[in-house]
Amino acid sequence: MGKNILVTGGAGFMGAWLVDELLTRGHTVTSIDDLSGGYMRNVNKECNFVRGDLRDTALVNKVMKGIDIVYHLAAYAAEGQSVFSPIAINDININPMNNLLVAAINNGVGRFVFTSSMAVYGNQKAPFSEDMPRLPEDPYGAGKAYCENMLEIFQAAYGLDYTIIRPHNVYGPKQNIADPFRNVLGIWINRLMSNRHPIIYGSGEQVRAFSYIEESTKAIANAGFFEKAVNQIINVGSPEKVTINDACSKVLRIMASEHRPEHVAPRPQEVALAYSTTEKSERLLDYKNSHSLEEGISEMVLWAKEMGPQEPTYKLPLEITRSAPEVWVRKTM
Ligand SMILES: NC(=O)c1ccc[n+]([C@@H]2O[C@H](COP(=O)([O-])OP(=O)(O)OC[C@H]3O[C@@H](n4cnc5c(N)ncnc54)[C@H](O)[C@@H]3O)[C@@H](O)[C@H]2O)c1
Repeated sequence: MGKNILVTGGAGFMGAWLVDELLTRGHTVTSIDDLSGGYMRNVNKECNFVRGDLRDTALVNKVMKGIDIVYHLAAYAAEGQSVFSPIAINDININPMNNLLVAAINNGVGRFVFTSSMAVYGNQKAPFSEDMPRLPEDPYGAGKAYCENMLEIFQAAYGLDYTIIRPHNVYGPKQNIADPFRNVLGIWINRLMSNRHPIIYGSGEQVRAFSYIEESTKAIANAGFFEKAVNQIINVGSPEKVTINDACSKVLRIMASEHRPEHVAPRPQEVALAYSTTEKSERLLDYKNSHSLEEGISEMVLWAKEMGPQEPTYKLPLEITRSAPEVWVRKTM
């Protein structure tokens, strides 16, 4: 039976893929987005699209009427910038959660799926597993930890069932490649398309597990439906680890570029080794890694070339400039 589903952030990268997937599965989807970080070109014409700000309590109440399942993806996911813009980033990442939770409880929503982040693990020893405590190292991670905690509190108080997803380094077509504060593969691809060299913060020996959007989306979609995922915290992403230097070499090779990366000063609070366990997502969400990093980057480059280079957009001002990367200070002030 088709469900009535609300997806927040449906004009964004992961939200757009999720809306497409849920529509393909035969559900009725309402998608809400204020287009602060997403694009109309990502919005599926088959969904009921509402352009609006989730900080608007009355609007959130209105869109929640008749909804069975909520997928809350809207956020400003600039982890590195969050140390320098905590007021704006917390406002975007925390207030909508409170509005959505209250409206979900008052409207009898059956399941609340939330895309948290690997950032809640902070600087603990990788691989991060779901039974580790929440020890975020930056305001973005702290905001996600707050939202996770609110879900647990509201489950205990009102019986609202949830699934918390902790995705990691998701990439692929439809991603915002114009935002210089996030999505490193997209930033490099965009710079190379404009014949500019890639930039690496620090030594480049940081380890990540970049995760292709298609398989991450299927697992996130399953989270709203699988009984075994109820009231669980689940990492979602690839088991394939890579250093930032190696990831950059792959992008350069796939784009047949002769540029070399420039290494600049490390960013404060950046976690060196950040990758997660995958066993729980395979067991509870049927996650299956089906793209190697090369295959995924190749798909993303094909899409990016169709769009052409994008002018970088610096959306939020820095609230603190002390120890901020010089280029960020210059471009945002
Ligand atoms: N992409 C990743 O690698 C990654 C990793 C871990 C977690 N996440 C989380 O997954 C979610 C989706 O990330 P994404 O990469 O698709 O980001 P994205 O920026 O592409 O999409 C987020 C969307 O939210 C919208 N939005 C922001 N503030 C809003 C508001 N106040 N009201 C309405 N809409 C608003 C933006 O316009 C944007 O379209 C986020 O919660 C993010 O924190 C992403």
